[in-house]
Amino acid sequence: MKEIKGFSYHKLGRRFVCKYKDGAWEKGKLTRRANVVLNESACVLQYAQTCFEGLKAYRTEDGHVVCFRPDLNETRLADSCRRMRMPTLPEGMFLDAVKRVVLANEKHIPDAASGGSLYLRPYVFGTNAVIGVKPASEFQFRVFATPVGSYFHGGVSPLRIRISDFDRAAPHGTGHIKAGLNYAMSLYAITDAHEKGYDENLYLDAATRTYLEETGGANVIFITKDNTLVTPKSDSILPSITRRSLLYVAEHYLGMKTEERKIALSEIGEFTECGLCGTAAVISPVGTIDDHGREVHYAMDDFENTVIAKLYHTLLDIQHGKIEAPEGWIVKIK
Ligand code: PLP
Ligand code: COI
Repeated sequence: MKEIKGFSYHKLGRRFVCKYKDGAWEKGKLTRRANVVLNESACVLQYAQTCFEGLKAYRTEDGHVVCFRPDLNETRLADSCRRMRMPTLPEGMFLDAVKRVVLANEKHIPDAASGGSLYLRPYVFGTNAVIGVKPASEFQFRVFATPVGSYFHGGVSPLRIRISDFDRAAPHGTGHIKAGLNYAMSLYAITDAHEKGYDENLYLDAATRTYLEETGGANVIFITKDNTLVTPKSDSILPSITRRSLLYVAEHYLGMKTEERKIALSEIGEFTECGLCGTAAVISPVGTIDDHGREVHYAMDDFENTVIAKLYHTLLDIQHGKIEAPEGWIVKIK
């Protein structure tokens, strides 16, 4: 498998599709059809009734194919479905679909040494026609796969991000689930950020615009002078599986202290390192946060000598089976 650069969609041979109608999910099957045909008034098209997940399958050095903590993606997808008034999946369907899609597209899983992986995108959406504002009664659950390299251009070269003037999620809104609408409303902000030379937006809490939340596609982590990993606590950010895993890795593998707490914007100059974490982002170092002209710099250029690099390598080694994972983190597909 040739090396995959960047994070983009490649149409592979097979994907999983399962329909929900008359109050029940059918069995589901693999299909070659990548296009979805929908009524013009489908709830997903008119009212954005959709949510998704993202996880990766890796080829380990000893030739197995594994994925990382898929049970947490399954639980989060169910949380998203409930909040979006969509039916949750029958027991076992999520993992079964993921495994079938990985195996059906196995030849596209990048080699362990290339740093690439097979990104899986499970999603649920309302398919039947509605015109008054109400949830659909028919749905599809689909999973497709695409081989990916690094999410940000430049791999591990430090990112330049800005404090956003736009908000991502309201208090009591949908920031804590993986609803497509959260991403739709970030498209203006991310395009504007790119046009102005930034890699991402760092959002603040919408109520007070005082505390850090997360970026459009990743949670944020900081390291303090005394080697503590600090990350924002908020009810309106996505509960990142990578962030939750890193907190464990920091404490139990690297002997670090960790804090999940509110982080004020005024504190960002006090940290020594910064990174963005997520399935797609893995851990991407942040070199600069620009708060309306007040630039805070983190010494991330010499990446291999950072604490974040230790977290990064430990996490990757766990994911690729090079060091022992905590019980249940690695699910063998083959
Ligand atoms: N925050 C947002 C908004 C995301 O889209 C993602 C990606 O899934 C994350 C955080 C990271 O979550 P995870 O580590 O579960 O992929
Ligand atoms: C992921 O990391 O899986 C995501 O969904 C982030 C997305 C912006 C690509």
